[in-house]
Amino acid sequence: MIDETAEQLRERVAVELERARARTALLTDAVDDDDLIRQHSPLMSPLVWDLAHVGNQEELWLVRDVGGRDPVRHDIDELYDAFKHVRADRPQLPLLGPAEARGYVATVRDKVLDLLGGVPFEGRRLTTDGFAFGMIVQHEQQHDETMLATHQLRVGPAALNAPPPPPAGARVAGEVLVPGGPFTMGTSTEAWALDNERPAHVVDVPAFFIDAACVTNREYARFIAEGGYSQPRWWSEDGWRHRMEADLTAPMHWQRDGDGWAYTRFGRTEPVNPDEPVVHVCCYEAQAYAAWAGKRLPTEAEWEKAARFDPATGRSRRYPWGDESPSAHRANLGQRHLAPAPAGAYPDGASPLGVHQLIGDVWEWTSSDFVGYPGFAAFPYREYSEVFFGPKYKVLRGGSFGTDAAACRGTFRNWDFPIRRQIFSGFRCARDAEPV
Ligand SMILES: [Fe+2]
Repeated sequence: MIDETAEQLRERVAVELERARARTALLTDAVDDDDLIRQHSPLMSPLVWDLAHVGNQEELWLVRDVGGRDPVRHDIDELYDAFKHVRADRPQLPLLGPAEARGYVATVRDKVLDLLGGVPFEGRRLTTDGFAFGMIVQHEQQHDETMLATHQLRVGPAALNAPPPPPAGARVAGEVLVPGGPFTMGTSTEAWALDNERPAHVVDVPAFFIDAACVTNREYARFIAEGGYSQPRWWSEDGWRHRMEADLTAPMHWQRDGDGWAYTRFGRTEPVNPDEPVVHVCCYEAQAYAAWAGKRLPTEAEWEKAARFDPATGRSRRYPWGDESPSAHRANLGQRHLAPAPAGAYPDGASPLGVHQLIGDVWEWTSSDFVGYPGFAAFPYREYSEVFFGPKYKVLRGGSFGTDAAACRGTFRNWDFPIRRQIFSGFRCARDAEPV
């Protein structure tokens, strides 16, 4: 990436834009128009809103701002401004219909590909190293993951297909000791990193143990069987209140199946696979499990140190396995599969210390609030990250099977309310290392 010419960067931008659009098309062509317009859950937008919103953001940033071109549709900005209308209200808006929305995003994309050839990738921070294009690629991929979550909430026959994830190639269990000391968190060099990942800064993290794999369905089912959901002592005060109000008794999408459990995934019901990481749990459930197990959730800094710190060199890698971008044999990303892979399925993706599947499979809850790093500066606008900083949101790390590689790095930060579980969220546990 370092020696990339402007022409190579243009080519890569075009490929990434096309890849994102192919996925958007797959997710929106898989269902009929009624399903596109319908709201499948009050937590989610109608799919047709996501579709036109993706095009509107691309128009605002690339066509108008970067390209300096006339608006394609100046009359719909307000409809697709995520800050103007909460998700629950979006179906009542006079949204573009499916055909109109498809035509709109195609027109915007034509203009972007046309202007891409003349954009200088220097002289302006927004376009340096193609940042604005990278931001829009990530935005579309993030909405694609949101649309995938909407598919999971949709009731009806299966509409999506993918091969199953690879089986376990190694037995992965137990804990890994991460030595105490400073490491570099965040980035100042990753060209398409978002404002909240910046700047790189040194954090001193005391020694800790972290699970080599995410908590599996087998382990989580034991927590349920041993009364985890009926004993307030494992839960935080807020967590227990939410557990009672929402009547939580198992991960979302689980149902009793004889003595065991089944889950419904993208329209198919099957027995719970005990070796897969648990998914669709909220932060409160993750915290309660960790307390029951005699552990806790990792902090965000601990998670990133486990993922990036190379004890041999003392430097932080881009990814657990090194600096190379993700590939199919290192991480379960990009909706290549419609499920997380069992623990041990990606031995080539392990960190130098032997922590597995930090990238891909399931987003991992951490115990940390979403806050700006020391030296944080909002870019290109406050609404990207800064307005969400504070104790209301918890950070999730590592991406899921539904996260594309373009929107996943060792430094990438996701955040959500601790009660949310319609996202592809799981967790692993950590604990303090006893002082020797
Ligand atoms: Fe958005």
